[in-house]
Amino acid sequence: MKINKIIFGADYFPEQWPEDVWHDDIRLMKQANVNMVSLAIFAWALLQPDKNTFTFDWLDNIMDLLADNDIDVCLGTATAAQPNWLTQKYDDILFVRESGQRVVPGSRQTYCINSPSYRKAVRRLVKEMALHYKGHRALKLWHINNEYANKNSMCFCKNCEHRFQAWLKKKYGTLDSLNDCWGTVFWGEKYFAWEQINTPMASAGGRNGAKLLDYKRFLSESFYTLYMEEVNVLREITPDVPITTNFEGDWSKFDHSLFKDDLDVVSWNSYPNPLEPNARRRAALRHSMMRSLLGKPFMLMEQAPSQVDWYPINVNKRPGQMRLWSYQAIAHGSDSVMFFQWRASKRGTEKYHSGMVPHYGEEARVFREIASLGGELTKLQDIVGSTIDASVAILMDNDAWWTVDSPYGTGGKSLDNEIFWASNTQPFPTVLLSYLGELEHYFNAFYRLNVPVDVIPAHYDFSKYKIVIAPLLHLIKPGFKEAVEAFVTNGGTFVATYFSGFVDEHVGVFLNGYVGPLTDVLGVKVEEYDPLPLNGSNRIKMIAGLDGFENEYACSVWCDIAHATTTKTLATFGDDYFAGAPCVTENEFGAGKAYYIATRPDADFMHDFVCKILADQNIEIHLLPEGVEHVTRQQNKHKFEFYLNHGNNDVEVQLSQGKYKDLLTQTSHESILRLARHGVSILRRLNDYGT
Ligand code: GAL
Repeated sequence: MKINKIIFGADYFPEQWPEDVWHDDIRLMKQANVNMVSLAIFAWALLQPDKNTFTFDWLDNIMDLLADNDIDVCLGTATAAQPNWLTQKYDDILFVRESGQRVVPGSRQTYCINSPSYRKAVRRLVKEMALHYKGHRALKLWHINNEYANKNSMCFCKNCEHRFQAWLKKKYGTLDSLNDCWGTVFWGEKYFAWEQINTPMASAGGRNGAKLLDYKRFLSESFYTLYMEEVNVLREITPDVPITTNFEGDWSKFDHSLFKDDLDVVSWNSYPNPLEPNARRRAALRHSMMRSLLGKPFMLMEQAPSQVDWYPINVNKRPGQMRLWSYQAIAHGSDSVMFFQWRASKRGTEKYHSGMVPHYGEEARVFREIASLGGELTKLQDIVGSTIDASVAILMDNDAWWTVDSPYGTGGKSLDNEIFWASNTQPFPTVLLSYLGELEHYFNAFYRLNVPVDVIPAHYDFSKYKIVIAPLLHLIKPGFKEAVEAFVTNGGTFVATYFSGFVDEHVGVFLNGYVGPLTDVLGVKVEEYDPLPLNGSNRIKMIAGLDGFENEYACSVWCDIAHATTTKTLATFGDDYFAGAPCVTENEFGAGKAYYIATRPDADFMHDFVCKILADQNIEIHLLPEGVEHVTRQQNKHKFEFYLNHGNNDVEVQLSQGKYKDLLTQTSHESILRLARHGVSILRRLNDYGT
């Protein structure tokens, strides 16, 4: 995308307001330096009030008004909420829940992603819109749908069933192969005709895990093909207009990497809960995931100006917090700061959600903070396009995720959901595992040291990194073993955790020792596993004389009981019948090292361990006062160092040698940087000539 400024704006719903308010909107947008708005996201019913009528007049008027005022438009394709006439006309539109019940109309995202009627109507609407707005001065970006899978991530209707059968036929070729890969000899599930294969709805008891996984893969691809229905139309009619779709940020709902080659820019919606102590780390992890998807700057498409209305308790962002979190997104690679929504709604479901222009109007604190931020961002065009140079990658794999957490998109969020999954879909060793939680556990250890981390799908090429961590890689696909072995042979540091390498891509167990294909590189074989009870723990006992470690640490959740084959044991378990079994191991392999951690260590261990592997690879850490985050974006020779104070107190930060200029205040700094509570500085190092 060729936009040479930090994009600042919002979802804008002029259709909710009389036209005289639009002029006030434009005045306030100019005051706040808004330079882009997203339009028409939920406007299908207004654009096509019945099957044969398209009405673009109101949208034309606002598009023209925005263009006259130099405000760009990210134009929604309006497909996230289908009109009532469409729902009523075709009986295959509404999605079907796992229980077999069809969802009732009355909200958005009620459609089935595989409904032929929905897809046909989508193609028609998008074509009309593209033809109508082709060449419009304001149109700078297409915004397809809205948060795919937020509400309709799983459907179990007959259309999905038929498509699933066709998908399986293509994948397995023969029923023999499918029966073999799915292990249907168990409980006599064997299929003798493709038509016998239903969707994996709720049944009497535990279900077939291989079938569940394939169904999740199939739905994931269905999201991608649905997206492509729109992309293909748009590419043909408006080939020069870039395309995005705003992700919700829940990677467990579908494999986002499927979209990789057909997205011009990644965009996503970030809604950390101000009440949650871990909010900023969680946001940093998700920003890092989004950045890593294409390895280039992304767009923050939505965030709340202050409170949302969908957590149980929705507190305001404190003064300065919205600004701080906006800069956090930029620090981690966003080239935009956008909000849901421009003007807080007067009526409708979301009327208690904050807006950039609150119900109180332009005198409100929130609008003043918004306008001030908009002004600041106009000074940051040098940052646009710069990237983050990470030497560490954490691998994330949707297939592994779906076999560890709920395949219903609730993974890692709450114990209740995991209990739901474990008891209702298939028997499992423990409900205490959280795939995302494990990713966060490792990410946090680097985050505390201000070391940037890319979070990449496990099938991406990771050879350029120095450290690669693969938490909870329960399922391992062909090709991964070779990639890891080559990486470590060439000097990389690889870290695997407990419950890794247990099953293959069809969820078939690797026999003769878990870690399966990782046995050679890790130098271990796991004989047994033992999940710990809720709040249960064991001890990690370090071998004597290891620099940088305490004598022992606590661990929880799970213990793999392993045999070291070629590896060196760095720590053993302290308790239980397997006391003395390896718990942390280090295997020299070619020029690199592969570590295996047989449990979930406490945060102190994580800190000391991560410090060790970073030091071994000569990767710089930044120890800063509690609450201060540091990230560097760079472009050509320029480095932009972000310092963000998330703490509640004013702090002083020691700068490394040199002179710096703060891009926000234009002041110079040397040796000490003072940051107020919620303060932000973006420093550029000056050269010997002071420029
Ligand atoms: C997002 C959604 C927006 C709005 C927002 C409220 O998930 O895309 O349309 O509903 O939440 O926080």
